[in-house]
Amino acid sequence: EKQRRTRNFAIVAHIDHGKSTLADRILELTDTVAKRDMQDQILDNMDLERERGITIKLNAVELTYHAKDGVDYVFHLIDTPGHVDFSYEVSRSLAACEGALLVVDATQGVQAQTLANVYLAIDDDLEIIPVINKIDLPSAEPEKTKKEIEDVIGLDTSDAVEISAKSGFGVEDLLEEIVQKIPAPKGDIEAPLKALVFDSIYDDYRGVVLSVRLYDGVVKPGDKIRLMNSGSEYEVTEVGVNSPKPLQRTYLMAGDVGYITASIKDITKTRVGDTVTDADHPTEKALPGYREMIPMVYAGLYPTDNAKFDDLREALEKLKLNDASLEFEPESSEALGFGFRCGFLGLLHMDVVQERLEREFGLDLITTAPSVTYHVDLNDGSTIEVENPSEMPDVSSIKDIKEPFVKASIMVPNDYVGAVMEMCQDRRGQFVTMEYLDDARVNVIYQMPLSEIIFNFFDKLKSSTHGYASLDYELSEYRQSDLVKVDILLNGDKVDALSFISHKQFAAGRSREIVKKLKGIIPRQNFEIPIQAAIGATIIARTNIKAYRKDVTSRIHTGDPDRRAKLLEKQKRGKKRMKAVGKVDIPQEAFMAVLQTD
Ligand code: GTP
Repeated sequence: EKQRRTRNFAIVAHIDHGKSTLADRILELTDTVAKRDMQDQILDNMDLERERGITIKLNAVELTYHAKDGVDYVFHLIDTPGHVDFSYEVSRSLAACEGALLVVDATQGVQAQTLANVYLAIDDDLEIIPVINKIDLPSAEPEKTKKEIEDVIGLDTSDAVEISAKSGFGVEDLLEEIVQKIPAPKGDIEAPLKALVFDSIYDDYRGVVLSVRLYDGVVKPGDKIRLMNSGSEYEVTEVGVNSPKPLQRTYLMAGDVGYITASIKDITKTRVGDTVTDADHPTEKALPGYREMIPMVYAGLYPTDNAKFDDLREALEKLKLNDASLEFEPESSEALGFGFRCGFLGLLHMDVVQERLEREFGLDLITTAPSVTYHVDLNDGSTIEVENPSEMPDVSSIKDIKEPFVKASIMVPNDYVGAVMEMCQDRRGQFVTMEYLDDARVNVIYQMPLSEIIFNFFDKLKSSTHGYASLDYELSEYRQSDLVKVDILLNGDKVDALSFISHKQFAAGRSREIVKKLKGIIPRQNFEIPIQAAIGATIIARTNIKAYRKDVTSRIHTGDPDRRAKLLEKQKRGKKRMKAVGKVDIPQEAFMAVLQTD
């Protein structure tokens, strides 16, 4: 029967080790995509993913592999992202699989994020096939890489497959290995429907499209289904698979990975991790679902045009359907008006959300500098959580402030250990331990304040190690620190969206850099603008933006109204990503200036 011929697997790897390239080769070898339709990284179908060359969203495709034993196998391949911000997506794709390919670049070896992702697969009891990639490169060291996988991860590599995802060498052997080693799904077709929703998107015509993995039973159009957590019921309108374009089917059965539509218009009723069952013959117990992700950083998102607030809310709701880790609630700022405080898993996640909102929903946004969540003990004995620096209470009422610390693992070649340790010390890191992976590489572990990691740590790490270091971190605990709130005043007015929290020791230095940065970013006006940084009533840094001398339009003689109109139009467009605060226009970069200090 069909189940015995089905293999569900994911590809996990560190960023850039070649997952998407391998997925492309597999699609090609199985003739899933005709050669002429082939384009690089075909699974990365978000424009943003192609442009940045990274995978953000998981993606599932069905393909048929004609194996050496003469049997046609049905493969469901799930691509996964490799960046530390997206391990949530990885755990979701793994839950839909029986096996995983662990792709390791033979020129780079095991990286911090590889470890994190492969442990997720091991926790899920998946069969793991080690795949050594890029063996076409002269600097490839397949034997050393295998030994590293055995020593560091503890996986047997005697069956590891050596491939070049680029040339296609070894990929056929890998497909055979998938057939041999990855177990077929074991669901009961006769049992009531039980399917896991591992992703969903909103389609204007079909409503919510649920990506599902069926564990038991069968589903077909006309069936009445129930989403077990939300309790809502719908009639199935269509089922199918992605191959990689959507392909309608008459039914989906236990073991299959595909999609279901049921004219679901209310997007708040569908949650990733929910269980779909038959409304008339429900299964007894829902699947375990996913653990809730805790956002690590928060930032304010504001439409440049205040009238777009409702559009922003609708866009966030639709995005959340597809990205369950996104959190948001309305907030208002004196400077920026009405917007949302959003929680993200990390900085890349924040960047991606902002860009998706702008591209997919046509919004113009101002994002404030990201902040972590502080736990503040007040003198009256109560404790509050502060996600927005401008909401930090007055010093006089604060007993102490605790901030999140993370355990950061940094894998780095020996030569760079000194530089990395210095970077961590400079950012209030506390050394924990150092493990030698082999004679050339070290895993350095530090306890670091998360807020210091937000301040450009990742980029600095990359540049000071020529791209050789990899970073992974997890929340460890909240610790008390000597922190202060710094306010920024423009033209004497406090701009709440520019306030930030800093360690006392860094407050003056950072403030001086920030006012200098702002001076370069904020356009001149026809009056002088003082910029000040203050802790409470004490000014700790200041500078001035000089007034400009002439009005740009005054030089154009009224004889050419056309030209004047054009010029004004040009000025208006330049202002798009600006927000007028009092009499001063503040461009988007200004809100990020606080992140760009050294
Ligand atoms: P994310 O999607 O961002 O997680 O990255 P990825 O792991 O999917 O990496 P991707 O497939 O985009 O490959 C990264 C780079 O390595 C690309 O420039 C590929 O062309 C290159 N690459 C992948 N496989 C091979 C290989 O076998 N040999 C060589 N020489 N280059 C390869």
